[in-house]
Amino acid sequence: MSILFEPKTIGKLLVKNRLVRAPTVEKMATDDGGCTPKLVDLYTRLAEGGIGMIITGGAYTQRNGKGLPKKIGLHRDEVIDGYKKLTDRIHQYGVKVVAQLSHCGRQGTVELVGGTPVAPSAVPNLLGVTPIAMDRKQIGEAVDNFVRAAERARQAGFDGVQIHAAHGYLIHEFLSPRTNRRTDDWGGTFEKRMRFLIEIYQGIRRHLGKDYPILLRMNSNDYLEDGLGVEDAARIAERMSSLSIDAIEISAGTWETHFYMSRGDIPQNYWLYTRASGEEKERIREKLTHLARQIRFKEAYLLEYAGKIKKRISCPLILVGGIRTVRVMENILLEGSADFISMCRPLIREPEFPNLIRRGLAARSTCLNCNLCLTDKPVACYQMGFRPPHF
Ligand SMILES: Cc1cc2nc3c(=O)[nH]c(=O)nc-3n(C[C@H](O)[C@H](O)[C@H](O)COP(=O)(O)O)c2cc1C
Repeated sequence: MSILFEPKTIGKLLVKNRLVRAPTVEKMATDDGGCTPKLVDLYTRLAEGGIGMIITGGAYTQRNGKGLPKKIGLHRDEVIDGYKKLTDRIHQYGVKVVAQLSHCGRQGTVELVGGTPVAPSAVPNLLGVTPIAMDRKQIGEAVDNFVRAAERARQAGFDGVQIHAAHGYLIHEFLSPRTNRRTDDWGGTFEKRMRFLIEIYQGIRRHLGKDYPILLRMNSNDYLEDGLGVEDAARIAERMSSLSIDAIEISAGTWETHFYMSRGDIPQNYWLYTRASGEEKERIREKLTHLARQIRFKEAYLLEYAGKIKKRISCPLILVGGIRTVRVMENILLEGSADFISMCRPLIREPEFPNLIRRGLAARSTCLNCNLCLTDKPVACYQMGFRPPHF
C-alpha cells in the first residue's frame, strides 16, 4: 500500500490517510456566512472522493474580517446548526474536517468589510486604501472573536480549527515588520509581533482544552523584500511548536505577491484586474503579465522550505503548493520532508482524485493551473471542457 494511504494523527485526531484538502474559499455561503445546500454538495463530493482531512475555506471571525463575498462565517451563533449538518455529512465518510479561521485585515475592500479595513498599522493596501491601525480594545476584541469562532466551530462538529496566519491577512500583518509598524506591546521585536498570534492560539487552547486540535497555516516566504523569509518562518514555526500547536501547514505569498501562492497562469478575470479601469487597468495587466512570466508553475514549489521548517518543529508538517504527481507526493513523505500532502486546485477539478490514486487509476492530477478557479464566482473548475487523460 502506498504511504499516502497510511493513517496518521494530528494531536489526538486520527486522519485516515495523508491527503488533505487545502483551505479553498468556496463563495457559496449565504451573504451573512451561513451554510447552504451548495456547500453541503461541494463537501459531500470531496468526502466521497476519498480525502483524509478537509480544511474549509477561510471562515471570518467577525464582520469586518470578511475579505471575499459569500465566505463561510463563524462570527455568529445562528450559523452553528447549519454547519452541524455539513460536518455530520462529512463524518459519514470517515473524513475529518477542520474550520479555517480567518480575518482579512487590510486585505479587504471597504464594500466587503463594511467600512475601512483594520490592520496593525496604517499601511495602505494594494488598492490604495489605508486601513485603520487597531487600538488595544480592538485587538482584544479580535482575539476574543477568534476564540468565540473556534467555540462555534467545535459546537458545529468541526474536528479542529486552523488559524490562518498566512497570505497577508490580519494575523500575518502582525507577524510581518512590513505591515506591523507598532511600537507598543504588539510590535517592534519578533516576540511582540508574535503576540497577537500567540494570544489567539492560547485563548483558543485555554477555552477548548489541550485535546482540541488547533492547526496553523503560515507563510514559508512572503517573497517581499521587507516581508518574512524562510528564516523568520522557521522561527515562528519553532515557537508555535514549542507551545504545542497540533500541526503546521506552510504556504506562501500575500496580496502583493499572490502569484507565488497559487502558481500558474494569471486568470484573465482576476478580481484585481476587473475592478480597475482605464490606464490603471492597463498598468495592472502589464504588471500581471510580467509577473506571470517570472513566476512559473513548478511541481511542489514550496518543498525547498519544508525541510528547513520541519527540522525545527515537533508537530506534523502539512505541505501545499503545486503538488500534482503521485510519485512526488510519496517521495515527500518517504524522505520525511512533510507528513501530509495538501492540495487545493487539483481537488477543485477532481474531488475524486484521492480515490483514483488509491485505485491506481491516476498518476498525476489533470489540473492545468490555469487559475480560472480564482474568480468572484462560486469555486469550480472552469476548464472542464478540456480533460486530458490521466496517464
Ligand atoms: C480558488 C482558491 C481559493 C483559495 N482559498 C484559500 C483560503 O480560503 N484560505 C487559504 O489559506 N488559502 C486559500 N487558497 C490557497 C490554497 O489553499 C493553496 O495554498 C494554493 O492554491 C496552492 O496549492 P495548489 O497548488 O494545490 O492549488 C486558495 C486557492 C485557490 C486557487
